[in-house]
Amino acid sequence: MADKASRSGLRYGAPEVLEYVARLHAPHDEALQRAFDAPEGNGMPPIQVGPSEGRLMHLLLCMAGAKRVVEIGALAGYSAIWLARALPEDGRLWSIEREPRHAAVARRNIEGAGLSRRVTVLEGEGLDILPKLEKEGPFDAVFIDADKGSYDRYGRWAAAHLRRGGLLLADNAFLFGQLMEDSAEARAVRRLHEEVGEFFETVCIGTGDGLLMGIRR
Ligand SMILES: C[S@@+](CC[C@H](N)C(=O)[O-])C[C@H]1O[C@@H](n2cnc3c(N)ncnc32)[C@H](O)[C@@H]1O
Repeated sequence: MADKASRSGLRYGAPEVLEYVARLHAPHDEALQRAFDAPEGNGMPPIQVGPSEGRLMHLLLCMAGAKRVVEIGALAGYSAIWLARALPEDGRLWSIEREPRHAAVARRNIEGAGLSRRVTVLEGEGLDILPKLEKEGPFDAVFIDADKGSYDRYGRWAAAHLRRGGLLLADNAFLFGQLMEDSAEARAVRRLHEEVGEFFETVCIGTGDGLLMGIRR
């Protein structure tokens, strides 16, 4: 069992292996590449999801038949493009971003991907914007990828506003390896881990920094 577990993580995921599989299974077209490169090109932190995580979330949304999705944390719009491409023509993604400069870059990249009609980037604090979005729900998926100290509150909001069968996704579920530390952020992310089981069927996938996934009961 221990041996099997040790084989399941990133132990064999050397960078060249991860690049090889991403190139084959999560290839970038021009719009995705532009959004992926945008943080570094615009003096923003390069903290977007990896190509395989973007592709994974895209496939999960396709499987869930998602039409109405909320993302908390847009950065440059890279994950928003993966998510929005899983939606039908009349689908909607609301992506929340508190940094005006990030929001502007995200809007530009989303427009460049031809997705402006499907995606709205909402500027402001996640916890301020979410209540204003409630009238658009219930939602088919919520992707949490912003300030870690609010992960527990974002998770509670998702539990209250996802439809039955709806999808919860939260990146950085390992908190950069600091999940078990005694910090406010670590406590908030742990609370999310500990509370979600009450409302969701869950799994935490060992991506680079952990992707928590739940299906609303
Ligand atoms: C990890 S990045 C998002 C990456 C993006 N989801 C992607 O993969 O392409 C986190 C983003 O959340 C934003 N953010 C941080 N705290 C926030 C908050 N309280 N409300 C809204 N956005 C926030 C940051 O400015 C940053 O752009």
